[in-house]
Amino acid sequence: MSNLDDHVFDRVTSFIWSASGIRLTRAKKIMVEGRLQRRARALGLHNINEYCRLVFDTRDFEDEAVNLIDAMTTNKTDFFREQEHFDFLIKTAVPELAMAGRPAKLWSAACSIGAEPYSLAMVLNDFIRDRLGWSFSILASDISTDALAKAVRAVFPLDMIDPVPKDMRQRYLLRHNDLSKPVFRIGPEVRALVRFARINLINDHYPVDRDMDVILCRNLLIYFDKQTQKKVVDRLCSHLRPGGYLILGHTDSLAGMTVPLDWLGNSIFRRRTA
Ligand SMILES: C[S@@+](CC[C@H](N)C(=O)[O-])C[C@H]1O[C@@H](n2cnc3c(N)ncnc32)[C@H](O)[C@@H]1O
Repeated sequence: MSNLDDHVFDRVTSFIWSASGIRLTRAKKIMVEGRLQRRARALGLHNINEYCRLVFDTRDFEDEAVNLIDAMTTNKTDFFREQEHFDFLIKTAVPELAMAGRPAKLWSAACSIGAEPYSLAMVLNDFIRDRLGWSFSILASDISTDALAKAVRAVFPLDMIDPVPKDMRQRYLLRHNDLSKPVFRIGPEVRALVRFARINLINDHYPVDRDMDVILCRNLLIYFDKQTQKKVVDRLCSHLRPGGYLILGHTDSLAGMTVPLDWLGNSIFRRRTA
């Protein structure tokens, strides 16, 4: 049972909705309360009411708003999550992009703590080793400053290592000098391949090139209502070159949406050429 007042819950969730597009229904009340409590404790405040007064009724709001958004985002991710997408990239999209001959541009548009773009970077770096003269760039973005800071640091708990293929672990991952520390770090070669930026996908404009070859926006749309999903997908499409790929998460759906995309299966879509 949650003790959070309905009006406090409504105030917090309507702010989160307008700032990030994330819909938090009353079914999420216990989760929201837990996250607010953690944030209040981190600031040395006594309770959520005191925290909400600080956030909404004082001039400190601007700074804390970023932290409140961070606290309300769900950053669950994994290396090589939804393996079929990486199979598709390795077998179809990446060879096709290399054939085109020009540098390929990939964007992980809700990258969380970085497992997704670093998985991409490992795959592409493996591919490029035998292909002199071809190059690629990976942009990775998220709304959460906290998640992005973790992504840049590139240190992960050891229990996230399992999905990384063994040969890639040897090539690209570093264990802590003190082997009793249950963490690993992405090696410098792969870290250097990913550029991180804070981008809020509900904004009207994205500071991103308009000729992306592949955009991954996986496991984010489920947090938005249909109207916001459509706006975000339309904007993402406007940053894809014709023939480029949009890859969503398996739980995301474009059912009933009119968008300039052809469905290829497994939540993979291709931007129509006309
Ligand atoms: C569940 S994670 C998915 C991570 C990764 N794409 C994956 O599938 O493993 C969703 C991410 O979307 C981010 N997010 C939420 N609202 C956003 C927004 N309006 N703009 C950009 N990113 C957002 C969250 O911070 C979170 O890191």
